[in-house]
Amino acid sequence: MTYTEKDQRFKRYTVTSALPYANGPVHIGHLAGVYVPADIYVRYLRAQGEEVMFIGGSDEHGVPITIKARKEGCTPQDIVDRYHKIIKDSFAELGISFDIYSRTSSKEHHETAAAYFKKLYEEGKFVEKVSQQYYDEEAGQFLADRYITGTCPHCGNEHAYGDQCEACGTSLNATDLINPKSALSGSKPVLKDTKHWFLPLDKDEPWLREWILEGHKNDWKTNVYGQCKSWIDAGLQPRAVTRDLDWGVKVPLNDADGKVLYVWFDAPIGYISFTKQLKGDDWEKWWKDHDTKLVHFIGKDNIVFHCIIFPSMLHADGSYILPDNVPANEFLNLEGDKISTSRNWAVWLHEYLKDFPGKQDVLRYTLCSNAPETKDNDFTWKDFQLKNNSELVAILGNFVNRTLVLTHKFFGGKVPPRAALSDLDQQTLAEIASYPEKIGRSIETYRFREALSEMMNLARLGNKYLTETEPWKLAKSDMERTGTVLNIALQICANLAVLCAPFLPFTADKMHRIMNLRAMGWQDAGNGDLLMEGHTIDQPELLFEQIDDATIQAQIDKLLETKKQNELNAWQPNSVKPQVAFDDFGKVDIRVGTVLECSKVPKADKLLQFKIDDGMGGRTIVSGIAKYYPEPEKLVGMQVCFIANFEPRKLKGVVSEGMILSAEDKDGRLVLISPSQLVTSGVNVG
Ligand code: MF3
Ligand code: ZN
Repeated sequence: MTYTEKDQRFKRYTVTSALPYANGPVHIGHLAGVYVPADIYVRYLRAQGEEVMFIGGSDEHGVPITIKARKEGCTPQDIVDRYHKIIKDSFAELGISFDIYSRTSSKEHHETAAAYFKKLYEEGKFVEKVSQQYYDEEAGQFLADRYITGTCPHCGNEHAYGDQCEACGTSLNATDLINPKSALSGSKPVLKDTKHWFLPLDKDEPWLREWILEGHKNDWKTNVYGQCKSWIDAGLQPRAVTRDLDWGVKVPLNDADGKVLYVWFDAPIGYISFTKQLKGDDWEKWWKDHDTKLVHFIGKDNIVFHCIIFPSMLHADGSYILPDNVPANEFLNLEGDKISTSRNWAVWLHEYLKDFPGKQDVLRYTLCSNAPETKDNDFTWKDFQLKNNSELVAILGNFVNRTLVLTHKFFGGKVPPRAALSDLDQQTLAEIASYPEKIGRSIETYRFREALSEMMNLARLGNKYLTETEPWKLAKSDMERTGTVLNIALQICANLAVLCAPFLPFTADKMHRIMNLRAMGWQDAGNGDLLMEGHTIDQPELLFEQIDDATIQAQIDKLLETKKQNELNAWQPNSVKPQVAFDDFGKVDIRVGTVLECSKVPKADKLLQFKIDDGMGGRTIVSGIAKYYPEPEKLVGMQVCFIANFEPRKLKGVVSEGMILSAEDKDGRLVLISPSQLVTSGVNVG
């Protein structure tokens, strides 16, 4: 039984989570935005005894996958095979409880997507249009979406794509770009005629307005509603649903060679084709019966596709239900910086699972309690450590552990009987009763952070109860009272085992195992009689353990290393200084000298002191390169270039008569400049 009246209308739930592109692994941003909340939602509904189907899978089409394949010299299928496996396995290990995790390169999906297009085509739902598209003459190919880059007309970002500018978030047409460039050959593309099929979204405006702007004003999140409103108010335009590409679902028409369905047309149909794979002939009720509640979990960059374009596809077919809600989240940043697959700025799920074995629930907890539900949010490793140590360990783990340890110590692991109840006992039992509904309501209205913190409040209630009753002291004088207190504390533990399960499924399993609990539903929770007197509790095990500073520092160091690599990759030569006259150059006297002696300058860790044969009786030069030449004596005999006519300067007590030339590499390292063959000491360089 769910708690919001509206939900009483529904008999079953079709829950989808955005299909991740199979061109990289999944990271914490995906998890916090989409998969952790979706999984909490479906686990909760299942515990409520609802009929639920949870759909996931990999989105294996689209231009970025083909670009990556070209770069790596393999096929797009190789790329998606590799990442589909990594993504699927890591989701399973985190306990994301899909009923099916499939993929859009599968035969069944191609058939379903092609048939969907064919039906709309035959019913005249598309507009056929010849338009001009960019074409790369060197590569002999049309340039769809990300195959074209250029300057964004809105914000001036020089690396905008043909479909979107990531700097300002505007969705673009390739022909909007200033200075368009082919991502294939780098050449300037030409415009060429090509025929495509368009979904006339402009005609959908009236019913979209009524359905979203009037019908969902109060139950859709404000970020979702706001984006929909601004799209609709700006005036919807026909959208091309085909592309000139050879990777994707082939357009199922005779005159459509070299054309595939646009990735955003075929991918959401994946939700339907995967349902068919899962349910066989019984699939239709999950998509067509009006007592089915359809919910799409997505990130904010997917809002227009799930709230406007896919619904318009469903509406064009006419036999489908529309989503009841699209609880899109904002973005999660990492240590103050936007998560980016291409810059490797992410915490990757498969790496986390390797680095923190058995700690799935710690990540689930941190991401849920920090989920970007109403605004962008930040993940930091320090916060991860804090949430583990001072919430999971200190509140939930500590309460359960104390209760179980005391039960073993004083009652040999058997649930003691309850005698007369004090006011506090009665209050506490009454409070337990309020939790299932409090947590349930928050989950049903997609407020997962609030739901999680309510669950933790029940553990806090348990700790407060132990602090006030002090059973470890009572045991010295009043065993009957000690038994009553521990009985109640144990009932709280058993309630926690049920109520934490959507969020922390591994911990819930462990608690069930230790306390020998039967399988329970949400309705079983909220009462103080889950454990009968005399019921046996196994030996306690810690639910969570402290995470130390060194472990956290290792993760921070890994990110610092990434940052350094990114800076090196982004290195570009300095711009050239203003022109100078030849005569000005001639004023600087550059010579070759041979190193006679070289040693560290005492008390100056940066400086080396050179004795140079300059062909004129020798001179001393001090140079700030000690860090890069740790064995200065090895430089003896080497020839260097130096400026011979600088005014002498005193450095750390040594008079330096000139400057030795070196190049500064992109990582800041200084490297001495030396002639490519031996020359006579003292000759000029010019
Ligand atoms: N692959 C898309 C993304 O990561 C999401 C696709 S969702 C679907 O942004 F509905 F198209 F499947
Ligand atoms: Zn822009």
